[in-house]
Amino acid sequence: MIEFKNVSKEFEVKDKKVQALKDVTLKIEKGDIYGIIGFSGAGKSTLLRVINALEKPTAGEVLIDGEDINKLSAKALRAKRKQIGMIFQQFNLLETKTVYENVALPLKLNKVPKNQIRKKVEEILEFVELSDKRDVYPSKLSGGQKQRVGIARALATNPSILLSDEATSALDPKTTTAILQLLKKINRELHITIVLITHEMNVIQSVCNHVAVMENGEIVEKGDVIDVFSEPKEIITKNFVKTVIPDSVPDKLIQSIQSDTRNYKILRLKFLDSDSTESVLAAINKRYDVETNILFANISEIQESILGIIIVQIIGSSAEIVKAQSYLKSQKVGYQEVGLGETQAQLYAQDPSDAYVTDTVPA
Ligand SMILES: Nc1ncnc2c1ncn2[C@@H]1O[C@H](COP(=O)(O)OP(=O)(O)O)[C@@H](O)[C@H]1O
Ligand SMILES: [Mg+2]
Repeated sequence: MIEFKNVSKEFEVKDKKVQALKDVTLKIEKGDIYGIIGFSGAGKSTLLRVINALEKPTAGEVLIDGEDINKLSAKALRAKRKQIGMIFQQFNLLETKTVYENVALPLKLNKVPKNQIRKKVEEILEFVELSDKRDVYPSKLSGGQKQRVGIARALATNPSILLSDEATSALDPKTTTAILQLLKKINRELHITIVLITHEMNVIQSVCNHVAVMENGEIVEKGDVIDVFSEPKEIITKNFVKTVIPDSVPDKLIQSIQSDTRNYKILRLKFLDSDSTESVLAAINKRYDVETNILFANISEIQESILGIIIVQIIGSSAEIVKAQSYLKSQKVGYQEVGLGETQAQLYAQDPSDAYVTDTVPA
């Protein structure tokens, strides 16, 4: 387990202080594929680099399996680092060395006997499906193949943790998918905990079980991927979710709602692995004096779950709408009230005051 306890990191550049991490508290369990998402400069790489003590926190503790990484002796730290592999956006391969030599390097540095190195390297190259490129130099490889070499090198010391710093950001979508599948296989078959940072929500969607959202050095939201995707709370998270679940209401519908003088609320409903969608809306129409108007519907697959999102306008008196909401609750349908502005395709501003419009027009 990796545990951040009130971790802060401040850099000082020419009398100017940059707070790269602010009071980060986070638990990453063994076996997780934990995604960290945020814009450039959010503090993601710094967060990753304090895990293997490439950066030392200015305050707080980083515990790995209960041990404070910054309190280890030099020898113990070297041993700990062997358990932590790392891969990068730019692969960081040695251009003058072959695939085999690149992967063998960490073992050589650890003075592993030659025959053991050979056995290990051949085994990992097989695992990452690069056996046929064994004696090739990196310049002859595609981006995806280079990243496979990076991964093989990171696996050479049998780590229990793999840190991935934007490992797919330089790759095309098809290659990205293949590398993400490989990371999944590493997690599943080698039981390696993966901490993966990215600025792309589709990366989180396809491989992670947990996610934390970073903004200005802080973790502003975290949880199970399915929970965060289905009910994002912070504006930044909603924006990220929108990039993979484009829950935007067509402009025409928005215009017609803007001129709707009746009393209404807009709800964003979520259905998980369920087929009760239609029956729930039909029941609301029947049971209460309300009208429902579907503005958007989408079904997506996240991990092994099916997530349905429906944005619906519920029209009626406030009292009837409240009853309808209670009914939704009783049926275990998750929902959020949203403003019309939040349903537009355009990503809204970071400043919450810019983002919301009142969601109820007075009757
Ligand atoms: N070694 C460093 N020296 C000075 N400032 C740094 C250093 N590393 C990171 N920073 C600053 O810390 C902040 C977070 O950076 P980083 O962790 O690289 O963010 P991200 O990976 O999310 O893009 C940025 O403002 C960056 O300029
Ligand atoms: Mg970074």
